[in-house]
Amino acid sequence: MRNTASILRIIVLVGIAFLGVEFLLETDPGHWAVVEYPKTWLFLGIVLLFAVAIEASVAALHSTLYKSLSEEKKARYHELEAHKSTKFEQKIQSILSKMTRSKSIEQEGEIELDHVYDGITELDNKLPPWWLYSFYASIVFAAVYMVRFHVYNDYTQEEEYLMEVAEAEAAIEEYKRTAKDLINFETVTLLAEESDLNEGKTIYNANCVACHKADGGGGIGPNLTDDHWILGGGIQNVYKTISEGGRSGKGMVAWKNDLSPSEMQKTASYVISLYGTTPAEPKEAEGDIIWTPDDN
Ligand code: HEC
Repeated sequence: MRNTASILRIIVLVGIAFLGVEFLLETDPGHWAVVEYPKTWLFLGIVLLFAVAIEASVAALHSTLYKSLSEEKKARYHELEAHKSTKFEQKIQSILSKMTRSKSIEQEGEIELDHVYDGITELDNKLPPWWLYSFYASIVFAAVYMVRFHVYNDYTQEEEYLMEVAEAEAAIEEYKRTAKDLINFETVTLLAEESDLNEGKTIYNANCVACHKADGGGGIGPNLTDDHWILGGGIQNVYKTISEGGRSGKGMVAWKNDLSPSEMQKTASYVISLYGTTPAEPKEAEGDIIWTPDDN
């Protein structure tokens, strides 16, 4: 009895560890973490080793303690153990019989029907409560479902699909907005999509026009439409200037705390798209670095 219990405990523990590994390590659907990450075997092996070691030490302790008992106490111990196990079995039995309301073979005579066919008799068993209540629950579920989806036409499967896709897309957007490492000045690329440039323009108009003018002609800040750059042209330099700011004390602050990486990428792309346009009142060219979009 004790051995089976120990083995069961070990299996359950290793099973939980296995489920934990599968749950915590992300794998593509249909793939097993234990196959994709062979190192997990090491972890499971250690768990197994620990479980066996703990069971073994507890058993050893138990037997040492048992040996130290006097004969009289040993007898008392056996009595208590027997009592414990029968009590436990009784409890299990009573739960089972409550869930099934089945009759034991000895009592079957009480529920046997008169109906006999070819020597086969029939028992008038009660419906097992576990089954009966699940059946009632399914009826309630069906009624609610029917009214909700077929009478009030809540949403169709197609709408449910579209809702989930929209949610997933929102989550991706959110991720892109907040994931800092996705874009930095080394990996940033120039955007050419109309929609991205329009977003960049919106951000520029909201934050930058005070110093650079709406047409990029420059004011407190330098002219952004010419080929002269103080801090360097090209998407990488412009992104870096927006993100980290200009030389200290000049007035160009770092925007990385106010704008997300993708917003700065769009704004930088918009700034570069201003090259070659003719502002109403262009500020004189500043900076010694000459860069035009053709240099990329
Ligand atoms: C408070 C005024 C101010 C605001 C607001 C401002 N800038 Fe600037 N910007 C400057 C100044 C001043 C410089 C020159 C920095 C230097 O000399 O180091 C500059 C430099 C730049 C440069 C580098 C130009 C070069 O020649 O290298 C870029 C690009 C730029 N700003 C883009 C932006 C963008 C995009 C925004 C809005 C998100 C913005 N700025 C908002 C004042 C401003």
